[in-house]
Amino acid sequence: MPHLLHIDASARPGIAGTDNHGSHSRHLTDQFVRQWQSGHPQATVTYRDIGQNPPSIINHDWIASAFTPEERQEPWMKEALAESDQLVDELIAADIVVIGTPLYNFGMPAALKAWIDQVVRAGRTVEFDDSNPIDPYVPKLIDRERHVVVLVARGGVNMSPGEEMAHMNHLEPHLTTALQFMGITRIHYIAIEGQEVGGELLAASIAEAVGKVEVLVDELQMAFRDAPIPEPA
Ligand SMILES: Cc1cc2nc3c(=O)[nH]c(=O)nc-3n(C[C@H](O)[C@H](O)[C@H](O)COP(=O)(O)O)c2cc1C
Repeated sequence: MPHLLHIDASARPGIAGTDNHGSHSRHLTDQFVRQWQSGHPQATVTYRDIGQNPPSIINHDWIASAFTPEERQEPWMKEALAESDQLVDELIAADIVVIGTPLYNFGMPAALKAWIDQVVRAGRTVEFDDSNPIDPYVPKLIDRERHVVVLVARGGVNMSPGEEMAHMNHLEPHLTTALQFMGITRIHYIAIEGQEVGGELLAASIAEAVGKVEVLVDELQMAFRDAPIPEPA
């Protein structure tokens, strides 16, 4: 049974369509998880609301600890990495990661960047091969097929990769690079655009995104049905 990690990064706690000034990205993650669970009543979900409880920003102690080989880490170093270890464990345990995120100031919210900084970990999610100085990065999350579904909300329009205003949007390229760096290559993006425009344009974008989420859940459920996750021996 595929395990879900559900992450919400919006600073707005409510859900658009339900709560006043609610979040559009939370609306889409809520739809995804509800639909997923209605098809898989026993599906397990880990939830992280990083919008309301952001991960810590990495500091000097964190860096010193993360780049010390595990066998030489002192107790304070293990303590400095405890939060990171927890977040990495959650990522490794997931078959599907559903991330709801706004576009803030041309990129990902600080809370999502803080999560990325905590989970990109030498020895846990990526290795370094010193014999290849040009490209020493060896992703570790290639042990099984993981999908990441990124459900985005933004105020402007025409900002998907390849569109006229894409140069104002570094969220998708940045997130894709970070996920691929760890070995996750099955990445799906769906966006609601025009939150700042409102009216019919926003309504049409919401309807389109809701339809795409519905189709994606069906496709992923079918994919996992056709290629079930091997049970541990
Ligand atoms: C601090 C801040 C910065 C924002 N920066 C951008 C931006 O660079 N580009 C954009 O299209 N929209 C921007 N927006 C609009 C948000 O992307 C939009 O309100 C979106 O719906 C927020 O996601 P949410 O509905 O899940 O909270 C910004 C909003 C805030 C609050």
